[in-house]
Amino acid sequence: MNSGSWETVMSDAGDAFDAHYALWTDERKDVASTKKEWARISQLAEISHREYRILDAPCGQARFADPITSAGHEYVGVDRSPFMIEHAKAKSSAQVVLITRDIEDCTFDMEFDLAINWFTSFGYDSDQSSKRCLERLYSALKPGGRLVMEIMNGQWLLNNLSATEKIVQTFDMTYGTVRDVNYVTADGIWHIMDRTYDYSGSQSHSSFAMRVLTADALTNWLHDAGFQSVDIFGSDERPLTNSDPRMHVVAVR
Ligand SMILES: C[S@@+](CC[C@H](N)C(=O)[O-])C[C@H]1O[C@@H](n2cnc3c(N)ncnc32)[C@H](O)[C@@H]1O
Repeated sequence: MNSGSWETVMSDAGDAFDAHYALWTDERKDVASTKKEWARISQLAEISHREYRILDAPCGQARFADPITSAGHEYVGVDRSPFMIEHAKAKSSAQVVLITRDIEDCTFDMEFDLAINWFTSFGYDSDQSSKRCLERLYSALKPGGRLVMEIMNGQWLLNNLSATEKIVQTFDMTYGTVRDVNYVTADGIWHIMDRTYDYSGSQSHSSFAMRVLTADALTNWLHDAGFQSVDIFGSDERPLTNSDPRMHVVAVR
């Protein structure tokens, strides 16, 4: 698979967020890494000493539930993958709220001080749906509340693709190898993962496509969703450059 739009890619995608994906993230995003990421989120959110009500959407396996509740905040996680929510429930404490739902269908109204959309958690659908997700996250926040995102930098992808036409990433894991092949399609920047999990004795395949935006385009989408101010940084606390593969975003309602 090396061409086509979101519709053609997703038609044979299946459920990408399955048990093999969970093993893959468990290994890449362990407790130490998650703790470090939470420290960065707290910094971007400028968390003060009061108790926050925090929406993690999508939450995946709710790996932030522990550091967030341990810091004395309230945690609500939303994800549309029933597998991920069941996996999260099996690991989480009773005070954590976990909901199986598409962000697009959430109706939270000015309930949260902070919304987290972290680790490539945006753009898996049509642009119309993705824009609605941003509107839902905006509505969920109290006035002055913040949305913090971690997402691929479209400009970096474009720059690298122009040199190599495609980027192949291979991750060697304890349980085998995961191989991603990333392309840009004719209708804009789409990050297409054609992923084969190869854990000893068990293989699975999934494909999914994700809209990737440049910092300027994402800023426009966030303003269109209602956010007052948008700041985008590199992942190492410095200003964003074209050589940063990832972006850290702070949008204030
Ligand atoms: C790469 S995982 C990241 C999960 C989590 N944010 C983390 O840091 O571990 C992406 C997750 O997004 C979920 N997802 C993607 N689009 C969604 C949407 N529109 N509504 C709810 N969940 C969504 C998938 O089910 C998957 O669990």
